[in-house]
Amino acid sequence: MFGRVKSLDAILATAEKKSLHRSLGAFQLTMLGVGAIIGTGIFVLTAEAAQKAGPGMIISFIIAGFVCAVAALCYAEMASMVPVSGSAYTYSYAVMGELLAWMVGWALVLEYAVAAGAVAVGWSGYFVGLLREYLGVTLPAQLVNADALIAQIKLAFGAANSDAIQAAIASGGFINLPAAIISLLVTWLLVIGTKESAFINAILVMVKITALSLFVVLAVPVMNSQNFTPFAPLGFAGISAAAASIFFAYVGFDAVSTAAEETKNPQRNMPIGLIGSLAICTVFYILVASGVIGSVGAQPLFSGGVALAPGSTEMAAACVADAGKSVVCSKEALAWTLREIGWQQIGNLVGLAAGLALPSVILMMMFGQTRIFFVMSRDGLLPEALSKIHPKYHTPHVVTVITGVFVAVFAALFPVGALADISNSGTLFAFAMVAIAVLVLRKTDPSRVRPFRTPLVWLVAPLAAVGCVYLFWSLSDYTKLLFVGWAAVGLVVYFAYSRSRSHVGRGLVEVHEDDAGIPPQPVPPLPGAKLD
Ligand code: ALA
Repeated sequence: MFGRVKSLDAILATAEKKSLHRSLGAFQLTMLGVGAIIGTGIFVLTAEAAQKAGPGMIISFIIAGFVCAVAALCYAEMASMVPVSGSAYTYSYAVMGELLAWMVGWALVLEYAVAAGAVAVGWSGYFVGLLREYLGVTLPAQLVNADALIAQIKLAFGAANSDAIQAAIASGGFINLPAAIISLLVTWLLVIGTKESAFINAILVMVKITALSLFVVLAVPVMNSQNFTPFAPLGFAGISAAAASIFFAYVGFDAVSTAAEETKNPQRNMPIGLIGSLAICTVFYILVASGVIGSVGAQPLFSGGVALAPGSTEMAAACVADAGKSVVCSKEALAWTLREIGWQQIGNLVGLAAGLALPSVILMMMFGQTRIFFVMSRDGLLPEALSKIHPKYHTPHVVTVITGVFVAVFAALFPVGALADISNSGTLFAFAMVAIAVLVLRKTDPSRVRPFRTPLVWLVAPLAAVGCVYLFWSLSDYTKLLFVGWAAVGLVVYFAYSRSRSHVGRGLVEVHEDDAGIPPQPVPPLPGAKLD
């Protein structure tokens, strides 16, 4: 079962032929990473982290950042050694065999497609705020979340008819329309090809960095140390739970690894790009989180002595009662904080920055998803119809549209925190597998050339794997259950469909990693650098 391994040499031989122009330097790679990383996590989920951990969320940011840093060191070794498309899925195929590779690919659906949904919902919160602040338009509650629908479903499934359920039905909505629309718009951009957005992307990184810098400059100086006590109202369990959720804020650095083949001197630049982008984001995140806590306070909302779960019906009801007094209820946490401390217009500008920049994160996530599906279908594990290329736009339109429709449905119906947590479960699984793959390959193939070697690998890789397991364990029970359910469905699909059709299994080992027909990275580098 584990024997179906794709030969690393064959993969590399074909990758060699591809010989993309090596043009990316450390700076461009770092920008690529920052562009994919900064998004809904910091702009929106900071509020959820506060609800889970209180001021202790600072520690959560540090823990999640640390786990990502050690995982990134493992990615750097794999990416510089196996610089081909497919990321964790391809590494696993070469090292641990088809079944685990399939499971990783299946889990990456959570990482990418569900994450795209989460970022779309995060964007929707800022969009609603922008319409209100700039145009005085308040979208009806029915169209900006699905709280009432979820409450109705809970009732239908036998939940107690509590006050919170009634409140959600009375004041909640049925669909998050802006989130669904932005997902479909991004799908359309991907179908018609996204090369044009390259330069814009570089600008958007600057926009995000400027917005976060402004936030830090304005919020940190008005820090009130009293806002830091009680520091951990929900104990270390709360800090761990928040770390597992806020991990989402760091996801995306693996986008850097997909550019390994286009990187000049990957030995030096790949780790700088991966670790550099993470380090920049970690510093910003810790400063931003301190700014939120210190300026407006970050104490969770309780009901009857129990902290409410973010995104829950009870939390929604408590937030209606709270009437915009706590950051934990805000759907645009950073803009809200600035307005609260008297910087109304700058708050709106930070909101505008999020509104402009988050769609590019959705785009990157959806692009990552289509590329993974594409490679899996090319390997025969998914129907080949999925890898059809559009005759005019030269994009894998079938898989893009299918992905887009699913993303739009997730975004329309689920709260941002739930989507982020589900996405994290898949990402953590993939990261852990990459860490294990690095170790396995050091044993089974010690003499292979490794342009970058993970330092202290026997410490760093196990730390990455254990860190991922710890964060996974700290996710909510329903998230873990959903992951197990998703994995079970994956196993059924594998044994019912993919196993018998696998190209490797059928001996069709034409390892075609030459990416023919796959659109180039949507986030090419800064002006002046070419991808090919
Ligand atoms: N890290 C990305 C975000 O926070 C996924 O939106």
